[in-house]
Amino acid sequence: MEPVPQTIDTLLINCRLAPMADNKLCPIENAAVAISNGKVAWAGQTQNLSDNAAQILKQDPKQTIDCQNGWVLPGFVDCHTHLVWAGSRSNEFEMRLNGVTYEEISKQGGGIFSTVKATRKATRKELFESASKRIKSLLNTGVTTFEIKSGYGLDLDTELKMLEVIDQLNTAFPIHIEATFLGAHTLPPEFKNNLDGYIDLITKTMLPEVKNQSIATAVDAFCERIAFSRDQTQKVFETAKDLGFNIKLHAEQLSDSDGAALAAQMRALSCDHLEYLSRYGAQQMAKHNTVAVLLPGAFYFLKESKKPPVQTLRDLNIPIAVSTDLNPGSSPIHSMPLILNMACMLFNLTCEEALLGATINGAKALGLDKQKGSIETGKDADLVVWDIDLPADLCYLSGLSPVDLLMVGGKITLNHLNCHQ
Ligand code: NIG
Ligand code: FE
Repeated sequence: MEPVPQTIDTLLINCRLAPMADNKLCPIENAAVAISNGKVAWAGQTQNLSDNAAQILKQDPKQTIDCQNGWVLPGFVDCHTHLVWAGSRSNEFEMRLNGVTYEEISKQGGGIFSTVKATRKATRKELFESASKRIKSLLNTGVTTFEIKSGYGLDLDTELKMLEVIDQLNTAFPIHIEATFLGAHTLPPEFKNNLDGYIDLITKTMLPEVKNQSIATAVDAFCERIAFSRDQTQKVFETAKDLGFNIKLHAEQLSDSDGAALAAQMRALSCDHLEYLSRYGAQQMAKHNTVAVLLPGAFYFLKESKKPPVQTLRDLNIPIAVSTDLNPGSSPIHSMPLILNMACMLFNLTCEEALLGATINGAKALGLDKQKGSIETGKDADLVVWDIDLPADLCYLSGLSPVDLLMVGGKITLNHLNCHQ
């Protein structure tokens, strides 16, 4: 990267670097990262420098951080979460341990419905406090950008309440949050036998109001036999697109509902889950450059056996992202490295693929890849210094999150480096 001379305020020295640029891990030894005004000004090897780079490193910045030979990677982008919710579903966990399936629980009025009941009753303060704990856990595992969906309200007031809480979280925490409206998560009980009436409520009332308040950038739906059909999903997406929202889809999680092809043709940013993705669906995703977001936590937690067609995704050069899907029903998993491990163990991703999935491809799934997901000149200085021997350790040391320093937009949010001195 040829640097542009500018005033450096923070310099990270004595590190190893995996910038995740050009869809590769690109490891660099003896590296440094220069930060100016919250952006990466330069990142690279400290030997054989061009004149401009040498000039940058000679500056006397406000702070110089000795990374003690730690690895610097972009902060993780957790591009699919439902981390604002109330209530608990541990009773359902026990039912599932006894053999009852996720779909059966849903048909008996549990599952998403039980979280909807609790979330409708909860105050903003209660939702904010429980979500804050979840954000802190994920932050401690290296996440600097989150996507959070609504979808546990399914009425205008509660959907707006969730989106307002997401907005408050974005202000309260030194992280970046993208909010997604998921009114089409499932059919609320009061619309039983009136599916089209609920689609009307979404398209005629909810979407225009969410747009009016500018509190979400994307619209998601659950296209599945226990949720919405392809045609109903299409109606929601048509209105969403007319209003200028990005779209993304929970597609092909429990069956092939032909959602991925529809979403891709409508230029969705991503299709998520994809265990039952067909060859045609994958071809449409490849054609329209749709990101495949894999959610191994939900696959694991629901004891699924059908895996997403990873080799087809590779063959068709579809970008693969990996995310926690943090939610109370199918993936109550609060750790990004644990998800990386699952992506490798359950879906056969290589460590490099999993790490790209949790950084640059996660950013792509949110339409943020120009700003986030890799350490490159001009991008946001969202990065983590890890106390590891190799980047693959983040996939291998399952359950461990050895974060030494976490920085978002050039501001240090966590710093354990002094503990080693
Ligand atoms: O991504 N599939 C639909 N939505 C969530 C689960 C939500 C829930 O069970 O509360 C998912 O798996
Ligand atoms: Fe989800």
